[in-house]
Amino acid sequence: MAASESEIVRKTLERPDVHSRWIGDFYNDESGRFYDAAFDRIAARLSPHGISACLDAGCGDGAQTVRLAKRGFPVVALDFSEYVLGRARQNVAAHGLGQAVRFEHGSLLSLPFAEGAFRFVLCWSVLMHIPEVEKAIAELARVVAESGFLIVSEDNMGSLESTLARLARRVVGNAVIRRLRGKDPAKLAVSPAGAEYWRQTDAGPLLCREARISWLVAQFARHGLVLRERMAGQFLERHASLRHAWLKSALQRFNVFWFKYVRLPYPAMDNLLILQRIRGPDPRGRGRCTP
Ligand SMILES: C[S@@+](CC[C@H](N)C(=O)[O-])C[C@H]1O[C@@H](n2cnc3c(N)ncnc32)[C@H](O)[C@@H]1O
Repeated sequence: MAASESEIVRKTLERPDVHSRWIGDFYNDESGRFYDAAFDRIAARLSPHGISACLDAGCGDGAQTVRLAKRGFPVVALDFSEYVLGRARQNVAAHGLGQAVRFEHGSLLSLPFAEGAFRFVLCWSVLMHIPEVEKAIAELARVVAESGFLIVSEDNMGSLESTLARLARRVVGNAVIRRLRGKDPAKLAVSPAGAEYWRQTDAGPLLCREARISWLVAQFARHGLVLRERMAGQFLERHASLRHAWLKSALQRFNVFWFKYVRLPYPAMDNLLILQRIRGPDPRGRGRCTP
């Protein structure tokens, strides 16, 4: 993937537009219940390994930085957008957590940290926007300490929502979508990494990828990280684009129900991966190994 595409995404995300939209669409009291449950489970998984600084790679406005800090983890919050880092600083200060968080301006394509610098790394909904995703995966793996953990949240191309959306597109056809939406649908490209398209935003083009989870796991395995657990995240993400408050709320409640009681990751739109660094790369290039 060309470095110039990474530059296009960086310029888009340097501006406020997309961040404000994400914060408005994805962060509210109802979705907060899902995120809190998810971070309770993540903290319970990590805490037995000791409390140590966690890198929040691609921290955005710091919503998850705050969740980590509230659960006792010192955090290094990194993003390549100065704009959103400013918002994260305000958010963290408003929660009185300034002492627990250090901010860094930097890119996942070249992390400003030494090899093995962190026992814990979080990368939540970030890889999906990175054109040079293999480079970012190598960088994330590089900064995880031996036997340390990396938690990744990504959209799942194999989910019910993603599969139905692709099927509907095929059945209905681009011409009908163009007529309904008044604009051409984004061109979908399917690669080993997943199904991706360029969304045209007010700030510029933005890459969005629904990941092929097996590919993602295999890539991390090549860099010495093995999959310890694959969890469901939000079952559906459609609630973000819904205007009816009751329907939005119902879907978000369903997401919490699925996360807490059903747990099956394969049909869920968001998947959470808990990966652990073993000594060296897995020579078989496979994602699982026994502890
Ligand atoms: C969808 S937001 C998620 C933010 C945050 N992790 C959360 O869950 O609330 C993606 C974030 O990743 C950042 N980002 C994308 N590509 C990046 C890169 N190559 N290096 C650093 N940050 C990046 C964006 O600026 C944005 O803040």
